[in-house]
Amino acid sequence: MGNTTMSLYRNSAWFLKGMTEFTRSAFLSAAKHFVEKDLEVSMAGRVFMITGANSGIGRATAMAIAKRGGTVHMVCRNKDKAEEARADIVKESGNKEIYVHILDLSETRKVWEFAEAFKRKYKALNVLINNAGCIMSERDVNAEGLEKSFASNVMGVYILTKGLIPLLEKSAEPRVITVSSGGMLVQKLRTGNLQTEIGRYDGTMVYAQHKRQQVVMTEQWAKTHSNVHFSVMHPGWVDTPVVAVANAMPDFHQSMKDSMRTPEQGADTTVWLAISEAAATKPSGSFFQDRRMVSAHLPLAWTHSSQLEQQKFMSVMEDLAKTFQPH
Ligand SMILES: NC(=O)c1ccc[n+]([C@@H]2O[C@H](COP(=O)([O-])OP(=O)(O)OC[C@H]3O[C@@H](n4cnc5c(N)ncnc54)[C@H](OP(=O)(O)O)[C@@H]3O)[C@@H](O)[C@H]2O)c1
Repeated sequence: MGNTTMSLYRNSAWFLKGMTEFTRSAFLSAAKHFVEKDLEVSMAGRVFMITGANSGIGRATAMAIAKRGGTVHMVCRNKDKAEEARADIVKESGNKEIYVHILDLSETRKVWEFAEAFKRKYKALNVLINNAGCIMSERDVNAEGLEKSFASNVMGVYILTKGLIPLLEKSAEPRVITVSSGGMLVQKLRTGNLQTEIGRYDGTMVYAQHKRQQVVMTEQWAKTHSNVHFSVMHPGWVDTPVVAVANAMPDFHQSMKDSMRTPEQGADTTVWLAISEAAATKPSGSFFQDRRMVSAHLPLAWTHSSQLEQQKFMSVMEDLAKTFQPH
């Protein structure tokens, strides 16, 4: 099969899968099999960090955890939006242990500095939720010269997680959850052209590649850090600004908005992975959708990559990340 035919096959297979599995009605039918008491747990005394917690899925996740008594560190790039969301969460949950930290995940050196400072200041972090994500409509680079979708969705997640692993490992029953996207199903891991310097910049496909890279990072971390429980998930199609305002996807949002999930429905699996006992019994490094472990590959789409290729990707990430590490 040629490259064009393969990408046509992957995109069509993905859309058909999405229409049956990623919509609001698909959530409602999956929810019939959820075990309600999985989420009936107190999180008092457990500490969570959620990136992008001011909006959409991240905000709904923060609210659900706050309502169960967890301490929540909201990591957001916009102070006004973050403080407004914090005030709503405190008011609705009655939980005052909600803290705002301002960090733009696309600013690579600052992510390192933030992780190092957090590790020095706080004694525990039980759960890290890498939720923030963005789709860029055109290629742009950050101060370090990294392409911004890569810097935010991949390097930011890599540095924040690696930087905080020592603190997570010192804390009870640590977990790391990364909010990826079913969009990654159309992409095979790429270890070259990481900054999308070559070829046309298609923001949606660049994002999908970065979401694939998040899946690979999770699988590899699960192998190298056995004391932490890692998982990665797809929230379904959720009506939030990331899809609504992204110039890259206006047609998709317009045609799908009536069948998209609410932020709370989109957050359900993240919350379940973060707090339920049932989630911790699943193998570390797995990919989830609607509280179920599912394959991270479409049938016949040839998106698997070898262990060698995946390890190569991780060592490229490690080397690149180190060049921005503060001394
Ligand atoms: N909605 C969907 O259908 C869908 C499907 C698959 C996966 N996802 C994933 O779900 C996650 C949450 O997105 P959402 O749907 O809830 O959209 P959203 O409401 O737009 O939330 C995205 C959050 O990420 C933050 N963010 C983006 N870039 C950032 C950066 N460089 N530094 C710090 N924070 C940053 C945003 O901050 P601002 O508010 O300041 O912009 C916002 O808080 C993302 O990873 C997204 O890729 C969503």
